[in-house]
Amino acid sequence: MIICVCNNVSEKKIQAAVHAGIHTMAELRQELDVGTCCGKCMRCAKQVLHTTLKQQEQQQLTQATGSLQSLLDRLHIQVNAVPA
Ligand code: FES
Repeated sequence: MIICVCNNVSEKKIQAAVHAGIHTMAELRQELDVGTCCGKCMRCAKQVLHTTLKQQEQQQLTQATGSLQSLLDRLHIQVNAVPA
């Protein structure tokens, strides 16, 4: 879906920019020119930015939790492997 008609910026382009490290509207504006013409896209662009950041944060949290669980599982095995 096109978010910024003036600059032909799609939702996917904004999501890709966030995955590449963009975290703010100022950075998004600088990188993709979103909202630099009529400005009508700003609310929708902000929504896509924030939703993508939340999804990214959730994915990172899930990965960290998985890594921690894996570490705890390994430690449990090592603790059980120690002779009494
Ligand atoms: S629609 Fe984005 S600046 Fe006009």
